[in-house]
Amino acid sequence: MSVTKPLPHDAAPLHVTGQARYVDDIPAPANTVHLAFGLSEIAHGSITDMDLSAVRATPGVIAVLGPDDFDEMPDCSPSNHDEPLLATGDVQYLGQPIFLVVADSHLAARKAARLGKVTYQELPALLTIEDALDAQEWFEGGPRIYATGDAATAIDGARHVISGVLEMGGQEHFYLEGQAAMALPHEGGDVLVHSSTQHPSEIQHKVAHALHKPMNAVRVEVRRMGGGFGGKESQGNALAIACAVVATRLNRPARMRYDRDDDMMITGKRHDFRIDYRVGVDDMGRIQGIEFKQYARCGWSMDLSLPVADRAMLHSDNAYFLPHARIESYRLRTHTQSATAFRGFGGPQGVLGIERVMDHIAHYLGRDPVDVRRDNFYRNGQITPYHQTVEDFVLPEMLEELLASSDYAARRKAVVEWNAQNPVLKRGIALTPVKFGISFTLTHLNQAGALVHVYQDGSIHLNHGGTEMGQGLFQKVAQVAASAFGVPPEMVKITATDTAKVPNTSATAASSGSDLNGMAVKAACDTIRARIATHLADTHQTEPARVHFDGGKVFVGDDEMTFAQAAASAYLARVSLSSTGFYATPKLEWDRIKGRGRPFFYFAYGAAVTEVVIDTLTGENRILRTDILHDAGASLNPALDIGQIEGGYVQGAGWLTTEELVWDHKGRLRTHAPSTYKIPACSDRPEVFNVALWSKGRNVEDTIYRSKAVGEPPFMLGISALMALSDAVSACGPLYPALNAPATAEKVLKAVQKVRG
Ligand code: MTE
Ligand code: MOS
Repeated sequence: MSVTKPLPHDAAPLHVTGQARYVDDIPAPANTVHLAFGLSEIAHGSITDMDLSAVRATPGVIAVLGPDDFDEMPDCSPSNHDEPLLATGDVQYLGQPIFLVVADSHLAARKAARLGKVTYQELPALLTIEDALDAQEWFEGGPRIYATGDAATAIDGARHVISGVLEMGGQEHFYLEGQAAMALPHEGGDVLVHSSTQHPSEIQHKVAHALHKPMNAVRVEVRRMGGGFGGKESQGNALAIACAVVATRLNRPARMRYDRDDDMMITGKRHDFRIDYRVGVDDMGRIQGIEFKQYARCGWSMDLSLPVADRAMLHSDNAYFLPHARIESYRLRTHTQSATAFRGFGGPQGVLGIERVMDHIAHYLGRDPVDVRRDNFYRNGQITPYHQTVEDFVLPEMLEELLASSDYAARRKAVVEWNAQNPVLKRGIALTPVKFGISFTLTHLNQAGALVHVYQDGSIHLNHGGTEMGQGLFQKVAQVAASAFGVPPEMVKITATDTAKVPNTSATAASSGSDLNGMAVKAACDTIRARIATHLADTHQTEPARVHFDGGKVFVGDDEMTFAQAAASAYLARVSLSSTGFYATPKLEWDRIKGRGRPFFYFAYGAAVTEVVIDTLTGENRILRTDILHDAGASLNPALDIGQIEGGYVQGAGWLTTEELVWDHKGRLRTHAPSTYKIPACSDRPEVFNVALWSKGRNVEDTIYRSKAVGEPPFMLGISALMALSDAVSACGPLYPALNAPATAEKVLKAVQKVRG
């Protein structure tokens, strides 16, 4: 069977030879125009005058659109209707689009966009979490609270009470392909939009709304993205809308891409958080009660901040049973880019909160952090702070396997010995687990559709609502289709995502791409296969149950034929060889206001051990070795899953170590290019990197071939790098390092000085 095989990514040869086509590579008609936004130079205030004469006079400029050129300003927001395409009077962040340049080349548009003379009346800007808290600027009118039991009483009655504050930075997605879109005017006012988006249906919906047309007038096609990481769930709306508006106004194709600086100045990033915690524990470090206050910096508009902040709350337990817990979440509005989805969707922030607590407890009691974690693990049947029962908890077994395979105990000893002998370089080691909830917390999004055709020569055309961003979804789903028909995967043609083929799709997000679309595709294939089986049973006077599809052949009773012959036979007998398929995740029931129910179909699990070394004179540090054991269930494709785990870990470690976003006191993002914003390079990956899928992995729930979602969960394994740094710093003195993220060399150095007291 094709599923479970470690086949390479279907487009890997195209990626590495440069032949893979991204939106900006699609050849455009000769009369195509190019767009660029003029951006706000202040963080908060109102525009008092906009002189665009120099912009208009720039050679190559065809048109310039300001707020006054729209009867009604199109909205780019995913739901809250609070994101005008161009600022209308009020400016909400430095980098906000305020006018739109249409030119005959990308460069001309960009150059002209720098020449607007705009005068503003500046107002004080809220930039930090503390600014917004003081001003009580938050969404939803106040904190959201999830609770179980009586946390305050449990903490006050505990043997030890520990409290602290953890700050963690945001993160730039740094997808290699920036945001891009192209709109082509079709007859009768229809438009075709190519967009680098995780959410084609959303682009269709927003473009239709902006053009005052029904959704059937807009078709959106997405072959692939050069990375999305959550940054293309909603952040592509503005470009697609701008292109569609210009294309229909001028009746010329329009295309737009942000260059890296513009992309970083305009688009949202991961939410940075501050988490305050207070925990009561017994002598062994077992949690009796815990209180979290999560402060999320959401930026100027709501975007996806509510579900992101919800997911942070829903992961504040990670792998640990919290008998009495109270989680308060503040969604703070600031005059900065609107923070958005990023791999883990708030989960990493929530998980980091409790992992810091575990680290802090272990330091306070002088116990091995692994023992404290193990003693706090869930047991099956216990409930989470949001009242879902944990039924598939496999971490205890995985933990023991990883401790053995990584040789944790001996290496912990070796680290202690090394640190005793080396005054300058200090080593640290840490293990962190992850338990990640799989499903969209907005329950209705957990649905997917597919469209499958079998042609009369037996070749198969596959389409579904998921999008490809490098994660390998298309390959996995093609393997599902190949398995259903018992044919080699080469017989399955993977095609671009297209809103005209499968409607009303959800974003490819929440790691559920293969869970949802795999099931929808299987349903479509099963329908067609049953029709072929019934037809062949008829012609062979046997039962459909005696028709088998395997190895590119179809076995009918004692007869056999190729799959192509079977398809041709069905065609001649006028049997339909095309079908849609549909899937809706079962068992979900969730009330996000009350914080009660079952938001997740199941959990994905993993654990990582990371060893680091720091230089106590400079704070510089390296990851020496990482061992990961991850549960991908019965993996659909072990090669792709291991790729997701490696990439997720490195991206997670990058978030917590070198990736630092800096805004100045005026609200200008100072780190808006790779020169100042440091993502991990190849050389930053662990020198020794042992990644294994858990051999006993099998989903207890009835997912596609019992696999588990793998896109986001491994991101949180990167937390072990931060905890290992904390361990190394702890070797320098008696005090708790309370290391914040990102733990840049400067922060590590400061922490070293701090623990020495
Ligand atoms: N892997 C690659 N190579 N590129 C990406 O953009 N995005 C991640 C993850 N892995 C991403 C990736 C995110 S944020 C999600 S939600 C999932 O892939 C989405 O795809 P899936 O649902 O098919 O796993
Ligand atoms: Mo992923 S953050 O759910 O796109």
